[in-house]
Amino acid sequence: MQEIRYELTKTPKKKPAPGDPLPFGTIFTDHMFVMDYQTGKGWYDPRIVPRVPLELDPAAIVLHYAQESFEGMKAYRTADGSIQLFRPDRNAARFHSTHDRICMPPVPEDDFVTAVKALVKTEKDWVPHQDGESLYIRPFCIATEPHLGVKASDTYKFIIICCPVGAYYPTGLNPVKIYVEDKYVRATPGGTGYIKCGGNYAASLISQETAEKLGYSQTLWLDGVERKYVEEVGSMNCFFKIDGTIYTAPTVGTVLPGVTRMSCIALLKKWGYTVSEERLPIVDVMKASKEGKLEEVFGTGTAAVISPVGELRYEGEVAHINDGKIGEVTQKLYDTLTGIQWGRLPDDMGWTVKVC
Ligand code: COI
Repeated sequence: MQEIRYELTKTPKKKPAPGDPLPFGTIFTDHMFVMDYQTGKGWYDPRIVPRVPLELDPAAIVLHYAQESFEGMKAYRTADGSIQLFRPDRNAARFHSTHDRICMPPVPEDDFVTAVKALVKTEKDWVPHQDGESLYIRPFCIATEPHLGVKASDTYKFIIICCPVGAYYPTGLNPVKIYVEDKYVRATPGGTGYIKCGGNYAASLISQETAEKLGYSQTLWLDGVERKYVEEVGSMNCFFKIDGTIYTAPTVGTVLPGVTRMSCIALLKKWGYTVSEERLPIVDVMKASKEGKLEEVFGTGTAAVISPVGELRYEGEVAHINDGKIGEVTQKLYDTLTGIQWGRLPDDMGWTVKVC
């Protein structure tokens, strides 16, 4: 990558004070990273500039055919005031695989990490100091060529923006209620379920709205062929502890390979748990609940961290999990993962990367 050009704001915004609420994804920092692409020229002009609205041709391909990718990452402030990232190489690799699937030019993985680090360093004073708060980082790429024929764009913008955040769910670490979707599907084999592209999320909104009307905060998706096997919760991967064994859906093309998911699997295996990535039928989950064997359910994600699930509703039947309390394994994962991320625990796994 060429050297990053800096054009810093002369009018920095007032930063939230410690203790101010940080609703997820609503408060933005002063700057953004931008880099352009043109076929034949490659990526060029990497720069950190004041965060302003984008100028986009109304015929830009992203606006019509959703040629768009994104990632979600966080920067954490440790007790000694330094700032670190969590497995940024994994996000860079997933961004690459997203681009391969939707015919976008890959951002070289080292350049992706260099750009994230440079922006976080520029915005270091925006990284919150309070427990449980972090700087959410949103790298994304859009197809900018004005063209109404369906084709891959010849021009793109790779952009990174940041926002200081608290918990993703307003309920914090209190268990969330999940609605199991039995009508719509999120992903089918051969589709785009395993990548992070905006269209996957647009297609999920209708179910999210149904869930919310029924008093549930998220949707658990079933497989798109038989509507039988549990897959993921859109903003999180999902784990089920049944009679001592921990199950999570395999990432075989329809489920997002979450960085938090893979980190939890590694920790659970290190602690001696059996982790099954075999497909798990929803009816087995509901049956286990009736038999008192559904011990814990939790979601994992960068935004959501580890989120206990207290209730599942499937075809009008409701499973209550662990009396609506956070389970032992869920709590241990939360404590360990956040301990490593915020530097409270030694990083035996070599997952953290210091920024400054
Ligand atoms: C993340 O966990 O970072 C995500 O990208 C989920 C998002 C849709 C909020």
